[in-house]
Amino acid sequence: MTYAVIYASATGNTKLLAEEIRKRMGEVECVCFGTVEEAGTAIEADIIFAGFWTDKGNCSDELGRFLAGLHDRKVFLFGTAGFGGAQSYFDQILERVKGHLAADNEVVGTYMCQGKMPQSVRKRYEGMLEQNPGDERIKGMIENFDRAVQHPDETDLKALGEAVRQVL
Ligand SMILES: Cc1cc2nc3c(=O)[nH]c(=O)nc-3n(C[C@H](O)[C@H](O)[C@H](O)COP(=O)(O)O)c2cc1C
Repeated sequence: MTYAVIYASATGNTKLLAEEIRKRMGEVECVCFGTVEEAGTAIEADIIFAGFWTDKGNCSDELGRFLAGLHDRKVFLFGTAGFGGAQSYFDQILERVKGHLAADNEVVGTYMCQGKMPQSVRKRYEGMLEQNPGDERIKGMIENFDRAVQHPDETDLKALGEAVRQVL
């Protein structure tokens, strides 16, 4: 069974997941591994692992366009998001991302985990907290930022590997 891994990763988190998938799947059957620009013959693979970073609750436009171009494929969606902690949050994002796929594709698996954000984001939150001292919502955002710093971690990569294994 041939496969391709195509991903969009602005800061490297999703790329880590992509690399883990390639490691798990092995090099031999890999038709293509790379970004959307490098996708080339990827759409011919038996199974396409498509990875995204969460951009305003959805995948980025480039990955959305890639997904929209797929037909009659088995697709495994994986992604990272700055906010974590609840599978229901990931599920909402995944539903939106699935919306880019034509109905003739089959989503064979999904996986999402949290991914760290740039330090500038924390600085912005700190500024907001200075303007609104004690604001619980902003404090929660800072706490989330600090939790995200470690992700994707080894546990995330293991869980991804398990999700991939179930598809095979
Ligand atoms: C412009 C922008 C928009 C983002 N929107 C969201 C969002 O709606 N929800 C979320 O949980 N994370 C959001 N994030 C955080 C990223 O999705 C997260 O850090 C992700 O792991 C980045 O993956 P990458 O390193 O592969 O680019 C956003 C980040 C940026 C820069």
